[in-house]
Amino acid sequence: MPILWACEARVAKKAWAGVFQEATDARVEQFTESVSFDRRLYAHDITGSLAHAQMLARVGLITEDERGQIEQALGTIRRQIEQGDFQFKPELEDIHMHIEAALIEQLGDVGRKLHTARSRNDQVSTDLRMWVRDAIDQVDASLVALQTAFVGRADADQGCILPAYTHMQRAQPVLATHYWLCYCEKFERDRARLADCRRRVNVLGLGSAAVAGTSLPIDREWVASQLGFESVAANSIDVSSDRDFAIEFAFVLTLIAEHLSTWAEEWILWSASEFGFLKLPQAYCTGSSIMPQKVNPDVLELVRGKTARVVGNLTALLVLVKGLPLAYNRDLQEDKPRIFDSFDAVHACLQMAAPMVAGAELNRDRIAARLDVGHLDATTLMEYLIQRGIPQRTAHGIVGQLVRTALDRDVPLSKLSLEDFQAAEPTLDTQVFEVLGVQHAVGAFTSYGSSGPERVAEQLARWKQKLAVARSDGATADR
Ligand code: ARG
Repeated sequence: MPILWACEARVAKKAWAGVFQEATDARVEQFTESVSFDRRLYAHDITGSLAHAQMLARVGLITEDERGQIEQALGTIRRQIEQGDFQFKPELEDIHMHIEAALIEQLGDVGRKLHTARSRNDQVSTDLRMWVRDAIDQVDASLVALQTAFVGRADADQGCILPAYTHMQRAQPVLATHYWLCYCEKFERDRARLADCRRRVNVLGLGSAAVAGTSLPIDREWVASQLGFESVAANSIDVSSDRDFAIEFAFVLTLIAEHLSTWAEEWILWSASEFGFLKLPQAYCTGSSIMPQKVNPDVLELVRGKTARVVGNLTALLVLVKGLPLAYNRDLQEDKPRIFDSFDAVHACLQMAAPMVAGAELNRDRIAARLDVGHLDATTLMEYLIQRGIPQRTAHGIVGQLVRTALDRDVPLSKLSLEDFQAAEPTLDTQVFEVLGVQHAVGAFTSYGSSGPERVAEQLARWKQKLAVARSDGATADR
């Protein structure tokens, strides 16, 4: 969206103009501005400034009356921004300068006191940390909503058997419930990563000033408690230079995007008529302008496609900070578009994913009709032989031979005769037929984490309970 800059802007005096004898070139103002994207931090900037002003009054650096004036003026500025009545000008560089300039315009000298014991370097770090903290909580709540949708699927599709694939080849039969809960596990690790990242994000930078701290008698602990930070950053040089908290968030977003892209790809395949496993909700599909019959999974393709920009953003951030000398360098301003974009992309994907998962339907009959294809029960047959005392490698060879026979006759293993089985392994009897077929094969799984019916039922119960707790916690990352 192009920004229409106010034209009279250039006459305004810069906050840092004292030492300068020349006016800034207008092209430099356009080149260095960040308000076109960091205006998104306005609410966090004002919240941080309110706490800072309160602290300045508490320690006697401004009067109570001045604090009151600043609070009121910041409230007015917040409303102006929210109502679209605030003028953004490139020569005021960033959101921090805009809010301060508006404050000075309203209050004169009192407004000029707000930046006491503060630099934009610790200010931007604090604003961004508050923004990332909120973003983490939003992503976390969206992940819980998506997990809830998967558990809903897992519940609704109980009893249904799916072919599980490795190398995109039919491998073993699994319960659909087990399959859906697999995604819950992946997204749960993403939630844990978010919670862990949040602890490192939730540290107060403010009070570090430009790079060395301040000689003024500030109270950082008090500001931290006001702003909900768990601790106070212990090194001012570190605050001035650090963005790893935000890069870590970008990394967690990347893993979420990767998980979503696997889901999207699976569902694109599964909804294709060649698979025909899944019916997508039409509200989340789009049509073709030329082929009237098409119902396309564009939403899923975009979920898969947006992963690229999220990976790109992470790469850009890592390259951005590589080799930067200590402490603050203006390069760091380039972090925000990438972080915002990754959040927007992943958040938007999550908003699509949850209702799609809830609204899709398995084509159970079609899936069931082809479960005999691919000898999905071969591994369970091998394990049956192992249980009868045959060494694993030998058992593997015997079943491989039986599969060869079945392939030659184009039949499933269960359609071979007892003579066929005895030709491969003379000790076998009719009991062997009790392990064949996908129902028997799935029923035979017992190990913890397997697709066995009892194990899967336990996991479904565990997930229902876990998500009920997560939802009642409001899905905040403090778990
Ligand atoms: N807009 C800047 C950023 O996002 C704020 C800090 C500027 N500090 C400075 N010393 N020029 O990084």
